[in-house]
Amino acid sequence: MCGIVGYIGSKNAIEVVVKGLQRLEYRGYDSAGVAGISNGKIQIVKKNGRVDILKQTVEDIKFTSHVGIGHTRWATHGEPSDINAHPHISSKGKVAIVHNGIIENYLTLKKELQKKGKVFLSETDSEVIAHLLEEVLEANGGDMIASLQIVQRTLVGAFAVVILSVEQPDMIYAIKKGTPLVLGIGQGENFLASDGTPLVQYTKSVIYIGDGEILRMSAKDFQIYNSDIQEISHKTSTLEMELSMIEKDGFEHFMLKEIFEQPKTILDSMRGRITADFSEVKLGGINKYAPQLYNANRYLFLACGTSFHAGMVARYVFEQWCRVACEVDVASEFRYRKPVIHSGDAIFAISQSGETADTIVAIEEAKEHGANIFGICNVVGSTISRVSHEGAYTHAGVEIGVASTKAFTAQLTVLYLFGLKIAQSKGTLTAEQIKQYNKELLAIPNQVAEILKMSAEILEISKTLKDAHSMLFLGRGVQFPIALEGALKMKEITYIHAEGYAAGEMKHGPIALIDENVPTVIIAVKDSNYLKVISNIKEIKARKGKVIAIITKGDKDIPGIADHCIEIPETSDALYPLLTTIPLQLLSYHTANVRGCDIDKPRNLAKSVTVE
Ligand code: AGP
Ligand code: GLU
Repeated sequence: MCGIVGYIGSKNAIEVVVKGLQRLEYRGYDSAGVAGISNGKIQIVKKNGRVDILKQTVEDIKFTSHVGIGHTRWATHGEPSDINAHPHISSKGKVAIVHNGIIENYLTLKKELQKKGKVFLSETDSEVIAHLLEEVLEANGGDMIASLQIVQRTLVGAFAVVILSVEQPDMIYAIKKGTPLVLGIGQGENFLASDGTPLVQYTKSVIYIGDGEILRMSAKDFQIYNSDIQEISHKTSTLEMELSMIEKDGFEHFMLKEIFEQPKTILDSMRGRITADFSEVKLGGINKYAPQLYNANRYLFLACGTSFHAGMVARYVFEQWCRVACEVDVASEFRYRKPVIHSGDAIFAISQSGETADTIVAIEEAKEHGANIFGICNVVGSTISRVSHEGAYTHAGVEIGVASTKAFTAQLTVLYLFGLKIAQSKGTLTAEQIKQYNKELLAIPNQVAEILKMSAEILEISKTLKDAHSMLFLGRGVQFPIALEGALKMKEITYIHAEGYAAGEMKHGPIALIDENVPTVIIAVKDSNYLKVISNIKEIKARKGKVIAIITKGDKDIPGIADHCIEIPETSDALYPLLTTIPLQLLSYHTANVRGCDIDKPRNLAKSVTVE
């Protein structure tokens, strides 16, 4: 995915757009560029590397304009480079575009346009949009709306495209299908962006552009057309975001800030959803489809990455609490394995961004087979939240760090609430059990705060991992997904090859990896698997492996056999993942820091993958 910004108004558009790109850089940071109109021409400045490089360049040349579009890239077609950076301009310089997504039929279109004499400069798929639009404009007497309708229907794939036209210097146009685009409505100025983060300092009045729609905007007003070129109105939403949420507030990295926000964000994700007497869970977002949720004969959890790990935890917990068959799958596999889906299936689509292309296409496939979709998203108004039948938002606030932390524990929290709600409706948990779990859930924020106090102690342990080349993360039962999550955190921000494994599987092969150079992190809390995990630790120690154990406070046995122990408070077996994940987040953060890695923007990654 990438970040797109557009601005038209009385400010210096280039400055507004570049600042917006800085706010969006977490979405992709291979290269960045900006286009404006000055001296009657489209001017483009684009550079490989971070937005700061672009910022310095436009300041050095004093690039100003009343209208501007910009892009910070996560390359899919064509390596990161100046020439592959966006914006892309058409052969005759009439239009410039920025694009988020993938044009799947770009090669066919490119060949046709080259036959007509169009000269391509980049290796990207996106450049084809600029040349195609110029071609269609010439064939349609310069009618931009009609031309964009044709272009929209010609392109195959996912796209959010923002357009500048040298013949209409007081307008910005946009088309969108499958990737996000938000209109920010100002006073005598208007904005476009991939999400709300560049807008919140100027306006909270926004409109989420819908698939197939065409936007025209000037400084004073805007029009939105459907794919039949009928003007439509949209309800205006209010951004639920504060500027402070997208600043570091004194933390060295967004990731650390977000790790430390978890006592609050876990509580926020429960707020108003547990009755004062702990007897009941209330999910305001479940109404019309409540029967389909409570009476489902199977639950499927579909997601990617960290969100997939949340789904794995839910699979264990739902089967224990609700006694219903559950499945969990990575969305990118689900869609293409010709899944057997029954109309009575309830599918949970779990996604922080709500824009992950793999998850979107997976649930669209499931919907076609009659399944009911319940979205669990963190971004209000996101695609998945809108294509789901019903669902519940996590209230983790904006998550900027590419490595997901607070969104993950918020997902777990909301999934636990769903599990309790369903168990309550099916009577598979007693009223007393429901109360007990609700009380323990409400105790989690303070317990997380207690674990966060061990950050310095965990930093010391992370120093022993500074030069590691390979690591194992082990867990059993509901801790197996947490082992996978800990390994994902470690690999994505330290670049150490870290592998999560079911502890019971070690003897079936992976134990061959163990020696004094391969540290193992093992989750060894006092749950129903405790004794078996102790055996796993001893198997590793017998082969000179170093062991870092996450243990329950007061454990007297494991400190005598593991090399390092991190103690966490006690809770129910099912709820432990909310606690065991915290030290693993801190361990990966501190290890990445001692290794000098770019923690908030790890190489090759982007915050949300809006391309398949
Ligand atoms: C997690 O740290 C990664 N950033 C990545 O695995 C992420 O969880 C995945 O891309 C899914 O994103 P989503 O939750 O926005 O759908
Ligand atoms: N597919 C386009 C490219 O590779 C856009 C990628 C993006 O969304 O950043 O340039």
